[in-house]
Amino acid sequence: MTTSEKIEKVARLIATARQIAILTGAGVSQESGVPTFRDALEGLWAQYDPQQLATPQAFLQDPALVWDWYQFRRGLVRDAKPNGGHLALAQIEQRKPNTWIITQNVDDLHEQAGSQNIIHLHGNIAQSKCFKDCQGMPTVIDVNALPDADASPPKCPHCGANVRPDIVWFGEPLPSDAMVSAFNLMYQSDLVIVVGTSGLVSPASDLPYHAKRNGATIIEVNPDQTALSHLADHKLEAPSGAVLPLVMEMWR
Ligand code: OAD
Repeated sequence: MTTSEKIEKVARLIATARQIAILTGAGVSQESGVPTFRDALEGLWAQYDPQQLATPQAFLQDPALVWDWYQFRRGLVRDAKPNGGHLALAQIEQRKPNTWIITQNVDDLHEQAGSQNIIHLHGNIAQSKCFKDCQGMPTVIDVNALPDADASPPKCPHCGANVRPDIVWFGEPLPSDAMVSAFNLMYQSDLVIVVGTSGLVSPASDLPYHAKRNGATIIEVNPDQTALSHLADHKLEAPSGAVLPLVMEMWR
């Protein structure tokens, strides 16, 4: 099949699907200037492995290092704008309102693109919370309102513990309401589109297996082979920001 035949086929599957779930990962934001977790970084942070920093143990050991790393990533996300991939996925929901995005991303680029049905599995990098969740789960803290807003990290105004990003770190459980909704969508959807994820981080990476077992058609959009590629019935081997707008053009 030529690339344009593949694009046309995917457009037809989207047009005829009853219920669509879209699992996204860092790759969908890559063309917006947000590096993926497996991209080599340049400059100051090049010597650090993101996966070593994204743990509660790393934060306990060196809170300033982990806080500053997230301040750096927050800066990248703050300046980012949605790309053609985010916009195309939002258009699918506009035309099929029961389409849902399940994202591992902690940015808000799907929201900025206009998607409304979004489940965030790994939290929100713009938000912070008390490391001890001293007022309940989560104890969200407005860092800008704190007297020590510029500290690395600031302190919780309720209990004095360190403030941390409100995201899920390795070894931590995912929000259970988000996981239940995501699993339900895997069983309800007849089409699942997996975009820009390496499929290496569980339990998010388990989701497409459930959909496949339930008979859903799986489309993968990723320039590279991934741990989920073997599940895909159809694959667009291209950057999502470039290829998804072409799919939408075909969907007349
Ligand atoms: P990864 O960084 O593991 O993988 C990114 C994927 O995007 C890779 O498969 C790339 O081939 C692909 N990719 C790169 N550029 C792309 C593009 N322009 N279009 C489409 N795909 C592209 O990111 P995730 O799979 O999201 O967890 O990682 C999963 C989780 O691991 C993250 O949510 C994060 C991380 O540690 C937490 O922060 C808890």
